[in-house]
Amino acid sequence: MLSAKATCNSHGQDSSYFLGWEEYEKNPYHHLHNPNGIIQMGLAENQLSFDLLESWLKNNPDSAAINHHSIFKQLALFQDYHGLPAFKNALVEFMSEIRENKVTFDPNNLVLTAGATSANETLMFCLADPGEAFLLPTPYYPGFDRDLKWRTGAEIVPIHCSSSNGFRITKSALQEAYQQAQNQNLKVKGVLVTNPSNPLGTSLSLHELELLIDFISSKNIHLISDEIYSGTVYCSPGFVSIMEVLKNKGLMNTEVWKRVHIVYSLSKDLGLPGFRIGAIYSNDDIVVSAATKMSSFGLISSQTQYLLSEMLSDKKFTKNYLRENRKRLKQRHEMMEKALQKAGIRCLKSNAGLFSWVDMRHLLSSPTFEGEMELWKKIVYDVGLNISPGSSCHCSEPGWFRVCFANMSKETLVLAMQRLSSFVDSMTKESNQSRRRQPLIGNPRRLKSLPKWVFFTIVHYRKVGEERYVVRCDDQLVSNNKRVDFL
Ligand SMILES: Cc1ncc(COP(=O)(O)O)c(C=O)c1O
Repeated sequence: MLSAKATCNSHGQDSSYFLGWEEYEKNPYHHLHNPNGIIQMGLAENQLSFDLLESWLKNNPDSAAINHHSIFKQLALFQDYHGLPAFKNALVEFMSEIRENKVTFDPNNLVLTAGATSANETLMFCLADPGEAFLLPTPYYPGFDRDLKWRTGAEIVPIHCSSSNGFRITKSALQEAYQQAQNQNLKVKGVLVTNPSNPLGTSLSLHELELLIDFISSKNIHLISDEIYSGTVYCSPGFVSIMEVLKNKGLMNTEVWKRVHIVYSLSKDLGLPGFRIGAIYSNDDIVVSAATKMSSFGLISSQTQYLLSEMLSDKKFTKNYLRENRKRLKQRHEMMEKALQKAGIRCLKSNAGLFSWVDMRHLLSSPTFEGEMELWKKIVYDVGLNISPGSSCHCSEPGWFRVCFANMSKETLVLAMQRLSSFVDSMTKESNQSRRRQPLIGNPRRLKSLPKWVFFTIVHYRKVGEERYVVRCDDQLVSNNKRVDFL
């Protein structure tokens, strides 16, 4: 009785990314009412600078346009899908400010959308027909399966990046993904990157950006750069926008210039995901025109546009906000990283975003995605932390997790880290005990699964006659590093 779209399974809601949110909703942590509840660390929300927005609003009460009759009426009746010119001007200037004014944006090339979610989907509708593909570096934001594929019928082909080079995009990975798409008979229409990356928390290097431009030039395809986290870069290396690279390479107003599109939103940089303010910036007039028409399916309320045009035109405020927000993100990131380090957990070196990409490979019972799921369930249900497993971000290596740090108070983060640290301690104790209880000798299956270094761990010394031998944990005696066979 229903459409195929309504009943199909490609929305991606059954991913562990969303399942973790559901578990959190059932048992949310509250310091007074539910102190044993689940702490939400799977939500990339920025609450660190909310006080700055509140204090601006307090000082600018008219910006809500409720008390001023004529403005209120004007806004209530406004329904042009081109958006309020004042807001578009303020938004492009804010985007330039984040890029240290190294590039400028023309408001005529900007299309307003209901968040970056809608911007990404709209671009897909403009650039790909059903069954055509975009290449995405892994790990990627789990929402893309829904945003890019579900209603458009477009496909995603992963560009597999690996921990061996810090998950950087390489020429060979791009070429392999392209080949993979061809093997699947999929026409490649473009590459989509997030810069800075969600979930890695790293910005793309100049080398990667140039590689991407060369690749899309040679294949005659599009590039979408989702720059939703551009204002969250809190330490070096800084953020380089794809537009800056095109400009510096003298590619403005060329064919490739028209095939590069930026997605932006105020959900992360200003911490306003509920306001649904997103945008597409494209150098192609046809894309701008088509996307503008499509934007009528997801417009931003004119009252919100008015409020934000007032806020973003206040240059003193935006300058201070961006600086203070970066400072707070940096402090928060350092705080979490240090606590993780204390618990023996390392993170990918990052410089941006609202999360860290955390390496828990050493805590897996087996180096598989089943092992990752097993650990994830323990962390959600036993430890009480909702974090996002790498598999939900299509990471090709098991054992990585995205852990968010900007959507909670400092006290909650301290508690979350204490919970994780006790969990790691208990795991270590448990594995030490079971190692002692279960002698490895006579258990070949267990011996085989242990990494090589384990065999060189000294358990204790034993004296045989005048000789002193080392007893390794596989119960072998070693003298001068040679195995002693007679015992
Ligand atoms: C890379 C990326 N793009 C898009 C979105 C969606 O953002 P919005 O709230 O503006 O729709 C997110 C949200 O987490 C994201 O991380």
